[in-house]
Amino acid sequence: MPIDWLSDARSKNKADNPAENLAERLGLFSPEPPSRRLADLIVGAETARQLKTALAKIEHHDKLYREWGLETIHPEGRGIALNLYGPPGTGKSFAAEGIAEHLKRLIIRVDYAQIESRFVGDTPKNIVAAFEAAREANAVLFFDEADSVLSRRVTNITQAADYGVNVSRSTLLLQLDQFDGVVIFATNLASNYDPAFVRRILAHVYFPLPSVDSLERLWHYHLPPKLPLNPEVTPETLAPLSEGLSGGDVLNVVILAASSAAERGASALTLADFEGALSQVRRSKVEVGQSTFMGIIE
Ligand SMILES: Nc1ncnc2c1ncn2[C@@H]1O[C@H](COP(=O)(O)OP(=O)(O)OP(=O)(O)O)[C@@H](O)[C@H]1O
Ligand SMILES: [Mg+2]
Repeated sequence: MPIDWLSDARSKNKADNPAENLAERLGLFSPEPPSRRLADLIVGAETARQLKTALAKIEHHDKLYREWGLETIHPEGRGIALNLYGPPGTGKSFAAEGIAEHLKRLIIRVDYAQIESRFVGDTPKNIVAAFEAAREANAVLFFDEADSVLSRRVTNITQAADYGVNVSRSTLLLQLDQFDGVVIFATNLASNYDPAFVRRILAHVYFPLPSVDSLERLWHYHLPPKLPLNPEVTPETLAPLSEGLSGGDVLNVVILAASSAAERGASALTLADFEGALSQVRRSKVEVGQSTFMGIIE
């Protein structure tokens, strides 16, 4: 009982002081330097082309909207929203960081799943704060794991939660309309998008599983020059052995193979280390997780 008045007083105090409240929320979304370079992203020709076009809209915005008059037909097109979608581990988060680096901007990462579950009723306020923080810092705003908010309807949830998701969704739509910066969404559940988002997002860029050619480049990237390898271990040998796997899987295989060599006390990684790690990663993909996109290769 005595606790009641205390929590009441606390929440009243917060409500009375919206500025402090916003400042506190803004602190949740700190702009950071991007951790990846776009030049390091390994994607097939089609994904690269789609990304290039999307970047052109950002880089030539003034020319397109002022000089070439697009603002007259698209007055709300001051900002740009991109959606990167595809199977897990295909480089979507990597690309978001790389895009911010390419644009020479800081990045604010919002783990959407986290703000949604951690602050149930607060989600809309956090969304507003995230946009405000991005505006202040001219940062790229990156909503990772944004599946639930982008999809038309979430299944198997209670009505109260359903209501919450809808409020978050309208808040996000409104913020997107008013924002004049760059917003990136990433999702690995592409089905059933809300048409209101589809219309507002300029480009949906698909990240498929890598082809054998891309895998070869992924192996190059993920084998640091300092890593001691037996001569038979090359990107060319490893690429065909890893068909159907993602870049994220390649990273995991390298870590597992290196760990098993270190554990054996070996001075270099052998092809057997990689084969063992590859079958372990394949097995865990089948037994532990199933992706809606499995099997689609560029
Ligand atoms: N296209 C790629 N180019 C370079 N590295 C990649 C690529 N895809 C995956 N990787 C490697 O895998 C790691 C994980 O990739 P990332 O986190 O970008 O995947 P994701 O698509 O965001 O996956 P998820 O859907 O699970 O969030 C990267 O840090 C990188 O080491
Ligand atoms: Mg990701």
